[in-house]
Amino acid sequence: MLGSMSSLLHLIGIATVFVTIQSDKHSLPKRYYNLYGDDVNISNLTNIFRTSSEILNFLKQDQYYLNQEIPDTTPEFGAVYDFVIVGAGTAGATVAARLSEIPQVKVLLIEAGYNENLFMDIPLFPHFLQISNDINWKYRTKPSNRYCLGMDDNSCNWPKGRVMGGSSVLNYMIATRGGAEDYDRWAEMGNEGWAYKDILKYFKKLETIDIPELRSDTIYHGTKGPLHITYPLFHTPLAEAFLKAGKELKYSLVDYNGKDMIGFSYLQSTIINGTRMSSNRAYLYPIHDRNNLHVTRKSIVRKVLIDRRTKRTIGVELIKYGRIIPVRASKEVILCAGSIGSPQLLMLSGIGPAKHLSELGIDVIRNAPVGENLMDHVAFGGLTWTVDAPVGIKIQTVLNPTYPYMVDFFTRRSGPLTIPGASEALGFINTKHPEKRSGLPDIELLFIGGGFKGDILLPILMGLNNRIRQIWNKYIDKYGWSMMPMLLKPKSRGRIRLLANDINVKPEIVPNYFDDLEDVETMIAGIKVAIKVGQTKAMQAFGSQLTNDTIPGCENYNYDSYAYWECAIRTISCTIYHYSGTCKMGPRGDPTAVVDPKLKVIDIQGLRVADASIMPEIPSAHINIPVYMIAEKLADMIKEEWGYLEESLA
Ligand SMILES: Cc1cc2nc3c(=O)[nH]c(=O)nc-3n(C[C@H](O)[C@H](O)[C@H](O)COP(=O)(O)OP(=O)(O)OC[C@H]3O[C@@H](n4cnc5c(N)ncnc54)[C@H](O)[C@@H]3O)c2cc1C
Ligand SMILES: *[C@@H]1O[C@H](CO)[C@@H](O)[C@H](O)[C@H]1NC(C)=O
Ligand SMILES: *[C@@H]1O[C@H](CO)[C@@H](O)[C@H](O)[C@H]1NC(C)=O
Ligand SMILES: *[C@@H]1O[C@H](CO)[C@@H](O)[C@H](O)[C@H]1NC(C)=O
Ligand SMILES: *[C@@H]1O[C@H](CO)[C@@H](O)[C@H](O)[C@H]1NC(C)=O
Repeated sequence: MLGSMSSLLHLIGIATVFVTIQSDKHSLPKRYYNLYGDDVNISNLTNIFRTSSEILNFLKQDQYYLNQEIPDTTPEFGAVYDFVIVGAGTAGATVAARLSEIPQVKVLLIEAGYNENLFMDIPLFPHFLQISNDINWKYRTKPSNRYCLGMDDNSCNWPKGRVMGGSSVLNYMIATRGGAEDYDRWAEMGNEGWAYKDILKYFKKLETIDIPELRSDTIYHGTKGPLHITYPLFHTPLAEAFLKAGKELKYSLVDYNGKDMIGFSYLQSTIINGTRMSSNRAYLYPIHDRNNLHVTRKSIVRKVLIDRRTKRTIGVELIKYGRIIPVRASKEVILCAGSIGSPQLLMLSGIGPAKHLSELGIDVIRNAPVGENLMDHVAFGGLTWTVDAPVGIKIQTVLNPTYPYMVDFFTRRSGPLTIPGASEALGFINTKHPEKRSGLPDIELLFIGGGFKGDILLPILMGLNNRIRQIWNKYIDKYGWSMMPMLLKPKSRGRIRLLANDINVKPEIVPNYFDDLEDVETMIAGIKVAIKVGQTKAMQAFGSQLTNDTIPGCENYNYDSYAYWECAIRTISCTIYHYSGTCKMGPRGDPTAVVDPKLKVIDIQGLRVADASIMPEIPSAHINIPVYMIAEKLADMIKEEWGYLEESLA
């Protein structure tokens, strides 16, 4: 309740600030006066009164949602559960819900953050959530002189969710699976059971597809899963133009979660009824009265307890309200703390690079390459086009209560507030073989219906330095759109290491973006296609102009040369938040593997990892849906091994 009150005040505060500074000084073009594409002025004072009364109503609905949260249980000192799950994020919520389907199994789910509220679920505003010190872990990468050069201290911000639902509460709701070849490759690396034909059933099991024309595609889609997926109900006229631009460039509209990925599409999104559907809402709300599942919030696991001699997992030690509480797991401990939290916990528990652990005074239980193989999807954040008409998303406009945008959201869950973080559409392309329409793409072009340059919040969240922010600020009154070319299959690998034998000290994060020069090449090829999209008739109809201010630090290169773009991507290097791979899955005997294909920590009894960290190679996708898939598969593997599978089917 407190959380939502402060979110509410936050929103109203921002709205009032912007209603006063809102200014549409430049002359309006003839065709569009606003985001609705109407040719009339829809801004008036009555909307203000309606907005404020509807926000109060929203607060009441928030209370309804809060009542769906699983109540908090503080475990007793030494309490015993069958399964102890660490982290209630995308994976943890899913695993907890599936394992507790077996009535006689007692499950404890431990989460560092507190509950989710409805204000976190307004699709347009995930940016605001990143500001919070409570629900964002606020990691930062180690300063580098090779990437993140345009950021304060040459260090990129790495947000991560710390709340029921984890990063599925902070994310942009983009639902992508990746291609069959992504998972066939996992199998080729020795991970039996992970080929596409083996895991497709989990992609179907987790979802209820609410896109009417896809519901009948029973080969690829599910209609009974907990997680609802749909197209946002509203898109800007610019997003429509982007899809037309794709057609001009000879790309079809595709269901990128179906047979072939390459092509253009609106974003399939984890949204229900115009609001975010997190793992918490999808998997845990419906079972909030299940009494064999306990959830403890505001609880930080500081260590997994392992018997040194037998290498058997005993349980975990958590800290809640300053008290240290050991909890035992009679069957298994499952780490779902994410690709930063899980390797951190393994290392603190004595599983990791032996030399590194010894240096920190940690007793080594098993030497393992924990923290290696760090991958992420890096994108270039410097491509904004300005347009003539006021059709792009601007925070100042959508929060201006004289417009009907807020009212439409609060009363009908419609309008621009239902767009997930202003991301609207994408194109999957293959820059090396532009004519190919099957197989894996190498670049995603993510379309954003608003300008990064001129946005009041985004440059701060990205951590851009003052010099760049000042240049971008001159677009504050301009409408625009942006595109992020995102490198789907990076060759570069980074690493996570501990900085202290202490759960409260954030680990050192070295993403190593663009370490492999082929990554640079592919990214620049992606930028070139993005620029072509901007030149299409469809985008030109809005007078789209690529902003081409020389990027500070890149003055010595000729604009548009290869060297210029290389400098550009090393300067405005943006994470798409897909940290993964740090507890790599591989066959036993593979020296790079931390967990085996059953996700068991190799050579340790009763301990598994199931989250984004087990990915041996990052899929060509935003990885939230792949993480759900991993969690669904893990739950089935556990049920099968403990002899519960038949029961849960019955
Ligand atoms: C800002 C942002 C935007 C994103 N956008 C998208 C998108 O649009 N589409 C997409 O597909 N993916 C997106 N992602 C990525 C995706 O959401 C994540 O990859 C996914 O949620 C990871 O799931 P996970 O279960 O591995 O970890 P998480 O969901 O992060 O869960 C880990 C949980 O463990 C808890 N935890 C960690 N350490 C401890 C501890 N020691 N004790 C107790 N609890 C602990 C954390 O608080 C957290 O709740 C985004 C991510 C972010 C951060
Ligand atoms: C104010 O605008 C809304 C929609 O934006 C419209 O429905 C309403 O009729 C307008 N009211 C007045 C008094 O103009
Ligand atoms: C739209 O109407 C409002 C109130 O009626 C007025 O303040 C505003 O200046 C108008 N906007 C434009 C762009 O004409
Ligand atoms: C969808 O949201 C509307 C508006 O708040 C609400 O009245 C309705 O009950 C919701 N529907 C579902 C299925 O949650
Ligand atoms: C940058 O854009 C402006 C306006 O679109 C154009 O006049 C100028 O030539 C461009 N500069 C470069 C270096 O391309």
